[in-house]
Amino acid sequence: MMRLSLRTLGAVVVAALACAGVGCATAPPAPQAGATPSPAATPLTDTATAPAPPPGTLSPDIPHDANFDDNPQTLAAVQKDFDVFSWRSFVALNWPALPDGSPDPNKVIGADGDNRVVWDGYKEPYEVFLPGGAAPAPWGQQQLPEQCRNIGPGDAKLIQMTQKVSDSVLNARGSGGALDGSNQPFNTGPLVDQQNGRYVRYEIRINRDTFDYIVGNTLYNKEGQQAFTQMVNFPSGANTPGAPVGSIVIKAAWKVIDPAQGDQPGRFHKVQAYVYTRASNDPPTQPSCELKTMGLVGFHIAHKTASAPQWVWSTFEQVDNVRVGPNAPPGTRANFFDPNSKYPANTPPPRPWNPNAVLPPEQRSQVQRVIPIDEATAALNAQWQGWLRGVNKDSVWQYYELVSTQWPTQPKNSLTGPKAAGEPAPVFLANTTLETYIQGRTPNVSSSCIMCHNNATTTNSKFSDFTYLLERAQSTKGGGR
Ligand code: HEC
Repeated sequence: MMRLSLRTLGAVVVAALACAGVGCATAPPAPQAGATPSPAATPLTDTATAPAPPPGTLSPDIPHDANFDDNPQTLAAVQKDFDVFSWRSFVALNWPALPDGSPDPNKVIGADGDNRVVWDGYKEPYEVFLPGGAAPAPWGQQQLPEQCRNIGPGDAKLIQMTQKVSDSVLNARGSGGALDGSNQPFNTGPLVDQQNGRYVRYEIRINRDTFDYIVGNTLYNKEGQQAFTQMVNFPSGANTPGAPVGSIVIKAAWKVIDPAQGDQPGRFHKVQAYVYTRASNDPPTQPSCELKTMGLVGFHIAHKTASAPQWVWSTFEQVDNVRVGPNAPPGTRANFFDPNSKYPANTPPPRPWNPNAVLPPEQRSQVQRVIPIDEATAALNAQWQGWLRGVNKDSVWQYYELVSTQWPTQPKNSLTGPKAAGEPAPVFLANTTLETYIQGRTPNVSSSCIMCHNNATTTNSKFSDFTYLLERAQSTKGGGR
């Protein structure tokens, strides 16, 4: 069913490829990346001791494509190949980063419990699609909005989406930027933390191959998109020598971490972040910025590869989102579910939706997972979580789970024809923190990453290769949009 000539790069090839796709020419040589011995950790009695993974499994190399080594190529076998690709990508993207953003070849993910990560250095679309259609600053520079300057350290990251779909994409679609599921096609709505009543915040980041394609083709403004006569075609990763890593786009969901309100900080990847709120009319909101400790609760990776021109769609969650996950200390509560709450399940909070609101307990989100994680993926999760725990029993990374990976079973379908989406498997996929309100199995309604992203366009209504990013482009001719 698939052309499977793609060969593995070899899990043991580590040093030579340690910088693939993330440009760390100036980084020191990589003597033993992925092979640093685990610190002697006292195992907790409630966890099975995981045997060490095959050498090179925990690697800073972002995989360029899945490896299809199974025989025969059943649906389940290929699903597993893509799920392994998802886990390898998760580990590499969250690898400890050097100050220039490249992976530190002398460290191992989670050896220090938590770590700054490689994708922190990726570009935020607000830095790419600028007012007046201006050219973006070069790779590697962060600009803070006025409200965030001089309130904290220079290296804290900026989180600037107050909703899952940015105001710029909603504006481009004519909904006036309202945080309102009724007059725009994405049926979105805020997600409210059970612990502290605050809204979850969102972030999108693009890798260098994606950024370079946008800048190289002047797709960052409307006039550039108008002048671009080819079909938008982001670079694909491939397991062939010299091939690029390919376009990778990340979407993350973050919650405020406050141990005083019951959070277990050791179970989250955390960042110090400038949490920025843009000015808005609905409801009237002034721009503001706060320095907060934020914990990662949801993580989407979209990666275009040779085997998946419709992109590979991986989605991870923190294990306590909708129930208390494994190895939890007594008193741990789920992030978005309270067994005693009477608030209806999977229903957005009452309006008005003010991103800085703190909601009372009876209005906080009650989220349930509608489609359970399937057994094979759950087993793979337990294996990778055990390996991550084997690095350090305090690794925050063991507290993440793959929900699934969506991939095209018919990747060769014409990308603009009637079956452009390539018959995705699984048919439906949702992250409870990102597609909270569109979970389920209703055709054309419930969340399918590829089916929805197949509707994304440029600002002049052309196919945009499955990313909504290009809809954010503004005009060089002034007058805002
Ligand atoms: C109902 C439509 C819909 C579904 C379903 C959906 N998305 Fe998206 N997604 C969007 C929109 C709209 C944006 C643009 C947000 C923005 O740029 O402000 C987006 C943004 C993204 C981005 C950032 C890149 C981009 O295109 O802007 C990623 C990555 C992503 N989604 C992954 C996923 C994954 C993985 C799934 C499935 C688990 C999924 N999406 C399901 C509508 C959807």
